[in-house]
Amino acid sequence: MSYAYQLKSLEAYTAAYKKSIEDPEGFWAAIASNFYWRKTWDKVLDWNFNDYEVKWFSGAKLNITENCIDRHLATQANKPALIWEPNDPEEHHRVLTYKDLHFKVVQFANVLKNNGVKKGDRVCIYMGMVPELAIAVLACARIGAIHSVVFGGFSAQSIADRLIDANAAFIVTSDGAYRGNKEIPLKSVIDDALIGCPFVKKVIVLTRTRIPVSMIKGRDLWWEDEIKKVETMGNPDCPAEEMDAEDPLFILYTSGSTGKPKGVVHTCGGYMVYTNYTFVNVFQYQPGWVHFCTADIGWITGHSYIVYGPLSAGATTLLFEGVPTWPDAGRFWEVVDKYKVDILYTAPTAIRSLMGFGEGPLHGKKLDSLKVLGTVGEPINEEAWHWYNENVGKGRCPIVDTWWQTETGGCLISNMAGVTPSKPTYATLPMPGVQMLLVDENGKEIEGNNVSGNLCIKFPWPSILRTTYGDHERCKTNYFSTYPGLYFTGDGALRDENGFYRITGRVDDVLNVSGHRIGTAEVENAINMHAGVVESAVVGYPHDIKGQGIYAYVIYQGTHGDESLTRKDILQTVTRIIGPIAKPDKIQFVAGLPKTRSGKIMRRILRKIAEGETTNLGDTSTLLDPSVVEEIMNGKL
Ligand code: WT7
Repeated sequence: MSYAYQLKSLEAYTAAYKKSIEDPEGFWAAIASNFYWRKTWDKVLDWNFNDYEVKWFSGAKLNITENCIDRHLATQANKPALIWEPNDPEEHHRVLTYKDLHFKVVQFANVLKNNGVKKGDRVCIYMGMVPELAIAVLACARIGAIHSVVFGGFSAQSIADRLIDANAAFIVTSDGAYRGNKEIPLKSVIDDALIGCPFVKKVIVLTRTRIPVSMIKGRDLWWEDEIKKVETMGNPDCPAEEMDAEDPLFILYTSGSTGKPKGVVHTCGGYMVYTNYTFVNVFQYQPGWVHFCTADIGWITGHSYIVYGPLSAGATTLLFEGVPTWPDAGRFWEVVDKYKVDILYTAPTAIRSLMGFGEGPLHGKKLDSLKVLGTVGEPINEEAWHWYNENVGKGRCPIVDTWWQTETGGCLISNMAGVTPSKPTYATLPMPGVQMLLVDENGKEIEGNNVSGNLCIKFPWPSILRTTYGDHERCKTNYFSTYPGLYFTGDGALRDENGFYRITGRVDDVLNVSGHRIGTAEVENAINMHAGVVESAVVGYPHDIKGQGIYAYVIYQGTHGDESLTRKDILQTVTRIIGPIAKPDKIQFVAGLPKTRSGKIMRRILRKIAEGETTNLGDTSTLLDPSVVEEIMNGKL
């Protein structure tokens, strides 16, 4: 890797940034030359933000798994590619070298092929954090199938919605998954999802927990049996499918301001280049380092910084099956010491939850292998930043605060560890190639420093989403129509006197609960499914650990028994329709909701009440019936 690839000083960053703005195509062509392409591109970039279309590295041919695995075999076949720490610390951990990973990926790629999976087919993966999850993802990429990983906490209904939207005929899952002291019956959830999905042809089931499962003849197959079949076939190879740079690599569903999650589509070439470049630069990765990203592969953070970024850089990536607080709140620190972790990348919500246990769980932990700390997913508060810095980093590890989104594929704003300055609660400066701006309500650019506004981007970067699966119009309206000619992030931000960005949070109807994105409309739809519910309105409110909590105002007309039982019923409904992550923290029963004369719910007012505001609710003169506001305030939880 050349010096220019990894920026080693503020001056180098500044020069790279300047070059990336003045000559984006030249800049990214030089970066992209560090990868293995079967054929290089005819054109670096074609783009249009008005009638949205973006193409990076047109005409180039590659397979991302050759970059993540094969190309490392010559120099580091026996180096650990993936370390797996099981949920139960008593269970044996696993290490897969690059050679092992190659073997397993090729083997499972052949299993997929044997079962009829072809290039372009969508494969839904619903598993816990086991090595086979990463193997399944890479096996799809190997044969050009499009993976759609669904986080193991989503309900049967959510899976069915995603299967239908992607028209996915293949599923990879496991009997169950372990998470802390819980056992999640994944296969049984899949069975419920499949009641309404007759188009699903094959379900491959890995054995993990040995919870009893029902296997449907002709449709359901054991992972282990399928592996045996390809073993007896003899030839253990599976040549990588030649992909166009712009062929889809994966779909990942994420919430927006409407009730229906969108399938964000990323493509092979640009995504590979950008996740690798940001992995190497943001964390200042050094050969030999162990990288521990605590996210789940079911989210974009896991895709980009557990699987593709680290492996394409030839790093050792650590996959942890469990949760930070089980068997006790020292688990992360134990894992760090056990594997001599160099980079720890986690979420503010995890830090805040661990802070709550005090310093006890840190006693006896060395943490002296740590070089770089990172956070992602939500704004980090000052207190959590300092706790992380002092107790975990012992004041000697730079903290990178990385701002990005499912749609951006990789980090867009972040300091680079030890290279560019950091400032608590600030994501700081954009990556090379990323042209941020702040705009006002009317889309007019707000120039200068010490200003705040809505965060937009005016030029494409290689891993920008290409479309929302099956509905390109939706992609255009969602991201490119609020401010014509600009990509709108949905976030508000301020820019300080140094030009550093601080993200203040979503300005749309999207919540960020424990770093998970949840649309208020989605939660409302789920609550409204409950037989006794007439109407509901959901807003976020500040929550000490989760960042944002979910506050639901509900008009209920069922047989009113015990209010607390009704609340439990509603929570049960939300769990069924979406999953436990979307359960409201507070449910207030109300007689009416504040509406304008045209019938629009005034969420601004509900948000203020949920935040605890008692006097300044802003303009309420357009309300149809101002008396409901007082009633809601009186009943506040
Ligand atoms: C939203 C994207 C990026 C992977 C995890 C979340 C918020 C993300 C930060 C940060 C402040 C952040 C934004 C963004 N967010 N990182 N460092 N500081 N806010 O991905 O589910 O697509 O959510 O998370 O609000 O829009 P996601």
